[in-house]
Amino acid sequence: MPEKDITPSVILITGAGKGIGRAVAEGLAARARQSGAQVRLMLAARTQADLEALVAQLQGGSVGCASIACDLADAPLRPLEACLGRYGRIDALIHSAGVGRFKDFLEQTPEDLEFTLKTNVTATFLLLQGAYAAMKSQAPRHGMRGQIQVVTSIAAEQPFAQSSTYCLSKYAQRGLLDVMRLYGRQDGIRILEVRPGAAYTPMWGEVDPVQVARMMAAEDVAQPMIDALALSSRAALEVITIRPLQGDL
Ligand SMILES: NC(=O)c1ccc[n+]([C@@H]2O[C@H](COP(=O)([O-])OP(=O)(O)OC[C@H]3O[C@@H](n4cnc5c(N)ncnc54)[C@H](OP(=O)(O)O)[C@@H]3O)[C@@H](O)[C@H]2O)c1
Repeated sequence: MPEKDITPSVILITGAGKGIGRAVAEGLAARARQSGAQVRLMLAARTQADLEALVAQLQGGSVGCASIACDLADAPLRPLEACLGRYGRIDALIHSAGVGRFKDFLEQTPEDLEFTLKTNVTATFLLLQGAYAAMKSQAPRHGMRGQIQVVTSIAAEQPFAQSSTYCLSKYAQRGLLDVMRLYGRQDGIRILEVRPGAAYTPMWGEVDPVQVARMMAAEDVAQPMIDALALSSRAALEVITIRPLQGDL
C-alpha cells in the first residue's frame, strides 16, 4: 500500500536566497502545490531582496512562506527564533548557508580563517544545537521529533588545494553531525549530511563555460534532499554524497 506523504510541514531553510538552499525551497513548494500538502517555510539568508522575491514567488495555496534576513555569523539563532515565533515549531532544518575563501594555504589570513569558521563552524554549531533542543521538546509527528539536514561538501571527506580554511570548516561540520547522530537516534531526530561536489551556483562566481557544462545544477543536489525528508520514519538516510557524473573538477 502506498504510504502517505510525510514531508515535514514547518521547515526552516538557511541559505535560501541563492544556490542549493533556494533550490530546496523551490522544490519543496512545487511538491506541496502538487500534493496539496500544507508546508510552512521560513527562509533565511543575508540579502533581503533575494528573500522577498522568493517569498512572492513561492507563497500561495498550500504553501505558507515568510523570511528573515540576518547574518548567521552575528545572530546564529535568529532564523530559528523567527521560525518558532511564526509557526510555533520546527519539523525540519535545512542548513545550507555556508561560505568559502579559496586561495593557497600560505595566503589564507587570520581574517579568512575567522570569517570562514564564524559562519561554517560556530554559527552552525549554535544553530543546530538550538534547533535540536526545540525539536527534542516538541511532540513527535509521523514518528519523529524532527529532521536536520546540513549541506557540507565533498571537502568534508577529501582535501582540495586552495581550500585549507574551507576543508577545515567542512570536516568540522561532519564531525559535529556524526556526534549529533548518536543523540538523534535516541531522541527520534534524523540527521542527514549532504556532501555535494561541484554545483554551479553564485558561490562560484565566474566560471569557464566548459567547466560549467561539467558541473551539477543546484536542483540536482536539492532533489535527493527533498526526497530524504519524506523517507519513512523507520529509516534514516545518514549521508548523501553527490558529484558530477564526470567526477570532480
Ligand atoms: N555549490 C557548490 O559547488 C557546493 C559544493 C559543495 C558544498 N557546497 C556547500 O553548499 C552550501 C550552499 O552553497 P551554494 O553553492 O548554494 O552557495 P551560494 O549560492 O553562495 O548561496 C549561499 C546562501 O547562503 C547564504 N549565506 C552565506 N553565508 C551566510 C551567513 N553568514 N548568514 C546568513 N546567510 C548566509 C547566502 O546569503 P546571501 O547571498 O544573502 O549572502 C546565500 O543565500 C554551502 O554550505 C557550501 O559550502 C556548495
